[in-house]
Parts: sequence; C-alpha cells; structure tokens
Amino acid sequence: MNLPAAPAPEHSPLASLDEWEDFLKERYPEPAADSAATTTGFVATDPEKKKEEFRNYEADARPTVREFYRQNHRWQTHDFAQAKRNEFLTLNRREMGIWEAMEYLNQLVDDSDPDTDLSQLEHLLQTAEHIRSDGQPRWFVLAGLVHDLGKILCLWGEPQWAVVGDTFPTGCRFSDKIVFPQFFADNPDSRNPRYQSETGVYEPGCGLDQVQLSWGHDEYIYHVTKDYLPVEAQYMLRYHSFYPWHREGEYSHLTNQQDRDMLPWVQAFNPYDLYTKSHAKPDTQALRPFYEDLIAEYFPDKIRW
Ligand SMILES: [Fe+2]
Ligand SMILES: [Fe+2]
Repeated sequence: MNLPAAPAPEHSPLASLDEWEDFLKERYPEPAADSAATTTGFVATDPEKKKEEFRNYEADARPTVREFYRQNHRWQTHDFAQAKRNEFLTLNRREMGIWEAMEYLNQLVDDSDPDTDLSQLEHLLQTAEHIRSDGQPRWFVLAGLVHDLGKILCLWGEPQWAVVGDTFPTGCRFSDKIVFPQFFADNPDSRNPRYQSETGVYEPGCGLDQVQLSWGHDEYIYHVTKDYLPVEAQYMLRYHSFYPWHREGEYSHLTNQQDRDMLPWVQAFNPYDLYTKSHAKPDTQALRPFYEDLIAEYFPDKIRW
C-alpha cells in the first residue's frame, strides 16, 4: 500500500463536535412544517428551498468549521480510510453494553457551554425520543439511540476530522457537491488519476458496501452493531453522515438496487438527527428503563468495540 505521509498532529479546531452539526443545519435548513420530511423520508419540494440552496453557506461558516473541513479534506485519503478500517474494525478494544457505551461516550467533554448544549447521551436520547414520538418501529428508535456511539473514537485519541464530518467515497473523483470541495486540492488523491475518474477503483453499480467512504463514526458504529440490527437500521447508521448521497443525490452510479431501496430510510432518519436538538432536554433517569428494555430486545449484555 502506498501510504501517505502520516497526518501532522494538527490542532482540533472545533470547540465542540456540535459545531460541525450546527453547520450542517445551516447548510440544510429544516424544511417548513408543511413540507417536512414524511415517514418515507422524502422532503417535498418547497419553492423557498431554492433560496436556501443559493445561500453562500461557506462564506458564513465559522473559521473553526472551515479549518475542520480543511483538515478533513486534506487527510482523508483512500489509504487513510483503509488503514483506519484495519486498525479499528478488529473490534478488540473492549466489551461494553449499549447503555454502558452511552455513558462512556458521555465523558467526551467539549469546550462548549454546558448550559445550552446537550451532552452526547442527551443527543442520543433526544433523537430516539423524537423517533418514538412519531410512532416509528422499535428498531428505528434503537437506531436513533445508538447512531452516534462511534464518536467514542474521539476518546481514543482520534482527531476530530477522522471522527465526524460529511462522509464521501475515497478512491474515485470527489464530487463538487461535497461541502468545501476546494479543500480537496490539498488531498494527495486529487493528483492520482486512478482515483479521480468517475468510478475510480470501483465498478459501476457495485453497491455502496464495496465503496470505501472516508473514515468516521458512521462506519465504525455500523460494524459494531450490524449483527444485531435490521438492514434498514444498518443503512441509517452507516450512511447518516453521507450527505453527498442522501441529500445531494450524488454517487448514484456506484449504488446497487439495495442501496436505492434503502435510501428512503436513510433520508427518513436524517431529520431526527439534524433537527431535534432544539427540543427540551430529556430526563435520562426516567427514560433509562424503557431504553434498557429496548436495548435488551436486540443486543446481548456486552458487545465488542
Ligand atoms: Fe452522527
Ligand atoms: Fe447525531
């Protein structure tokens, strides 16, 4: 393998991982109530949407967010994504139950204001509660509960740009619909002709399972939980940050029939993740018994991380 120079120990630009998600909300504003996402996940076309799309969200981005994307696009190469898979998908770091992992993740303390921001555990509970309040299936609620547990990578010394950020395929041309596409100029893969054709190292229609996305918390939590969840939930976890696909409609030439069948579920999940944060703080202790039961319905006491 032709390994790139080891990423420099760059500083962590985001005061909180929420800064990235807050930016996504700017980039993809919540649709008006009458055009809100339906349970099939499709967002009805809204004439106002046009206006939003032409907003210059990059110019408005905080410098910290801009720097975060610069690092992400610089260092997320095909070889880097492969190396991280090899490093972390052995799942031999520890054994933890789901609730235990939620508490473990909650040690992740950001420099953000604790009075206004939700903890990681609260974000998970809130997402799950919003899904539950819409009468969605129990596995869907559970997907909401676990979807960001891959952020424990941050607790193991992984830099922000290798844990969060919109994901994208490596090993083929970077779509210009990926946020801050100009930062890919510094990615060594941009100068590799093999990686910069339309399909790159992949066969057309090969299916996303064959495509190596940039490394982050989605791919990790998918592998940790995939043996226990229905395929729809697996897609929600694995691709929830793959905005170039589920929001921009890019990379369809790499998808197969299963991906296209599952896309509406990924899209159905996205609003619960992105637009739940302003709601009231959940009562963790009151909710815990319900979620312990739900976890036990699908997962053993301990799973490998
Ligand atoms: Fe996430
Ligand atoms: Fe999330």
